[in-house]
Amino acid sequence: LTTYREATAHDWEEIAALHAASWQKAYRGALRDDFLDGPVVESRRERWRERFAEPPANQYVVIAEDADGAMIGFAAAYGESDPVLGTLLDNLHVLPGHQGEGVGRRLVAHVAAWALRAYPGVPLYLDVLEGNSRARRFYERIGGTEAGNDAWDAPDGERHPVVHYAWTIEGMRALVDAVPE
Ligand SMILES: CC(C)(COP(=O)(O)OP(=O)(O)OC[C@H]1O[C@@H](n2cnc3c(N)ncnc32)[C@H](O)[C@@H]1OP(=O)(O)O)[C@@H](O)C(=O)NCCC(=O)NCCS
Repeated sequence: LTTYREATAHDWEEIAALHAASWQKAYRGALRDDFLDGPVVESRRERWRERFAEPPANQYVVIAEDADGAMIGFAAAYGESDPVLGTLLDNLHVLPGHQGEGVGRRLVAHVAAWALRAYPGVPLYLDVLEGNSRARRFYERIGGTEAGNDAWDAPDGERHPVVHYAWTIEGMRALVDAVPE
């Protein structure tokens, strides 16, 4: 049984570890090897230590846990982060052993439910690496539509092309309605 709850400051180290492990696997070939093989761990620790020490007022982090209470995925979002695109789904990662079980869809549904409540009338969007075709198919499957190209100044020191995916308010509602809590 998978359960979902909002993250607290106590969760930052486990989130950082999952984030780094997911990048090492899913971003291999996209981000630099010399970053993924070392600095990624401290980079994600720095990010999450900071994000929970002084949480931005518009931050929402939801985690998925298995029956033993081990973290198997998380998502982070920032309300109304862009004046046009809306609320940013900034991170979404599910452990490889638990992919394809509906955890990713439910994490995005929790973000959508929070966003509809906390930032009513504001749509949802994200950036995905152009070459991350697995994730792009997943976003299309759960109602996201392509909404333009951009670039990401990544912590590996390089600039990588990304694609925006967006959900309308109706799309967000559909996602929330489609999955049981
Ligand atoms: C992308 C990711 C978050 C998806 O989460 P997941 O838990 O594996 O996805 P789900 O099981 O919730 O899948 C939901 C739906 O999308 C479909 N789907 C998932 N991955 C897919 C893929 N690669 N291609 C096509 N469809 C896919 C599922 O079949 C399912 O559809 P259904 O409910 O109609 O059967 C997860 O695979 C992941 O963490 N990947 C590595 C990290 C990453 O790239 N994150 C995104 C960064 S932007």
